[in-house]
Amino acid sequence: MKNYGAISKKVNSILHGGDYNPDQWIDMPEIIEADVKLMKLAHVNSVSLGIFSWTSYEKEEGVYDFSWLDEMMDLMAENGTTVILATPSGAKPAWMAQKYPEVLRVDEYGRRQLYGQRHNHCPSSPIYREKVHKIDTLLAERYKDHPALAMWHISNEFEGDCHCPLCQAAFREWLKKRYGSLETLNKAWWTKFWSHTFTDWNQISGPSPIGEPELHGLTLDWHRFTTDQAVDFYYSEVKTVKAITPDIPVTTNFHDFTRVLQFDYWKFAEKMDVISWDNYPMWHSQGEDDVHEGSRRAFIHDLNRSMGGGRPFMMMESSPSSTNWQPVAKLRRPGMHNLQSLQAVAHGSDTVQYFQWRKSRGSSEKLHGAVVDHVGNENTRVFREVAETGAILEKLKDVVGTSVEPDCAVIFDWENAWAIRDCQGPRIEHKDYWETCQYHYKALWEQNIPCDIINEDRDFSKYKMIVAPMLYMIRSGVGERINKFIENGGIFVCTYWSGLANESDLCYLGGFPGPIKKSMGIWSEELDSLYDGEKRLVRVRGGDKLDIEGNYEAEIFCDLIHAEGASVLAEYGEDFYKGMPALTVNSFGKGNAYYIAFRNNDNFLKDFYAALQKKYHFTKATETSTPYGVIATTRYDEKNRFVFFMNFTAEEKSFTISETDFEDAVDGSRESSVTLSPYGVKIIRKKI
Ligand code: GLA
Ligand code: ZN
Repeated sequence: MKNYGAISKKVNSILHGGDYNPDQWIDMPEIIEADVKLMKLAHVNSVSLGIFSWTSYEKEEGVYDFSWLDEMMDLMAENGTTVILATPSGAKPAWMAQKYPEVLRVDEYGRRQLYGQRHNHCPSSPIYREKVHKIDTLLAERYKDHPALAMWHISNEFEGDCHCPLCQAAFREWLKKRYGSLETLNKAWWTKFWSHTFTDWNQISGPSPIGEPELHGLTLDWHRFTTDQAVDFYYSEVKTVKAITPDIPVTTNFHDFTRVLQFDYWKFAEKMDVISWDNYPMWHSQGEDDVHEGSRRAFIHDLNRSMGGGRPFMMMESSPSSTNWQPVAKLRRPGMHNLQSLQAVAHGSDTVQYFQWRKSRGSSEKLHGAVVDHVGNENTRVFREVAETGAILEKLKDVVGTSVEPDCAVIFDWENAWAIRDCQGPRIEHKDYWETCQYHYKALWEQNIPCDIINEDRDFSKYKMIVAPMLYMIRSGVGERINKFIENGGIFVCTYWSGLANESDLCYLGGFPGPIKKSMGIWSEELDSLYDGEKRLVRVRGGDKLDIEGNYEAEIFCDLIHAEGASVLAEYGEDFYKGMPALTVNSFGKGNAYYIAFRNNDNFLKDFYAALQKKYHFTKATETSTPYGVIATTRYDEKNRFVFFMNFTAEEKSFTISETDFEDAVDGSRESSVTLSPYGVKIIRKKI
């Protein structure tokens, strides 16, 4: 596999650094002086500047002053630190909101917002776009040849929607383009229901609790439109900086999508040189082991790598300590910082970056974790751990640009996620779409099987197995592609609540799971919902089709299916559906399609995917057998293969590495028997 090369031509090692806000300290030069020294001690080679600095450049309209940034860019260059320069559109100046209220958002109740906070400009406002274009142009012109400039960081964590008249008008234009006529739109949205037929485009507005919150087709289109609008805003900034600095890569930092399931990030990804995201795990949660959180983080890392087509991505933010917004912000236990950082690298990140370098002195993030605390020196536990990680990263230069080509993929699809979330029935709570995808993924992750996370529109043909939990929405053409994938020899796994609706959220007629009914060889007639804590017995007797046997408990969902050609591998053991199939496999063409009719995200999925692995031998990251909680991933190119062994438990873990001719990628040792300390990591390199 080829090496993708470094993200920026200016650094050939893993980027280590983070958000730095010297503009908050400009009247305390001793702080900046200390920062430069401390950055060296922490092995920092990159900082992100200017993320929310607009007012520091333009105190009043049209009056510009870039002196602090000039000094910082030079200072960073002198010290060999590269700069990821932000465009400041993530927070607007107060004078602008005062003079041009149209830059402020209107909420879904129609209320124009007051000035405050951030990430809340109207994306349609011509004035805001013009002002952003101007400031971005000035920044790009000023620093285009600066040796420190490595990358553009466009805005910050795009989020939210705006319901102002400008955005409503843009929505209607978007709908006109999508549907052409009101007749087509009315059909797609099924508006005869409750007599909501639209007879004039101007009758339509975005979803609102005091207007139309329940027309599923409209809500879906609003999500699509607001995504397109945010991407359009982002891309207008990209065009501005690219016109002046065509060779400087651009990115924008994604949220942890599990917290803000808002924009379809695949749409942004098409227009990004490199994917970046902000990783804020909830380690050490009460009643949950860190292995589980580790699998969540792994899922999102893999999603971000997959969105970049396999290219290395950036972990643009992470806290070296606690946060200020989690309900209980636990300190990272010793070792966890290093594990969290190297886990990102293990899944394909070529950066370990923090929010933030130094704690702000005031306002809401003054107690958010940072590399440098208010004490202001290197003698803190957090600083020492960051410096240790920095030293390790310096040894991993050859990891840069490597990646992985998994033969398994899990489908997590944004449009499907919106549709499931907005759907009324059969259960309102605990539909848990993304969590379910993640549990399926976890069963592979725990077996050290690398996985991509894709959506319905990706190329399926490169995978041996595709897992598509709760594929409620199957868009036009996708069913045919799934069928072809199976026909050609693919292994396809799907579950209850699949193939119900098309891209307009109109139910498939003729039986579920709609367009994949034939390839799955089943018909889903009804879906029973269970109360929390309720269970139904499932008897699994895979037989010669799959080596799995035993009793399991169904919870939350029991799909009542009929085998129409598929072989039955399990049956319900109680309730009026006792004896009906609960797990089936259908041979279709050269492939096999598995249908899991019930939810059991724990031991059943574990055993099921272990049985599939036994049968199909998917590619693993290592042949080493690892104890519970120790997970292995791999990255490689034509010269090297790296295997990362990561201990997500608070106990020591011992095992023997079965690879031969390897060396420890950090200290060069060749010992096969390994004892990982709590949260310990070992990285081996094997020359190819
Ligand atoms: C987000 C933002 C940062 C900071 C962190 C705090 O990721 O991008 O500016 O507010 O959250 O966790
Ligand atoms: Zn608006």
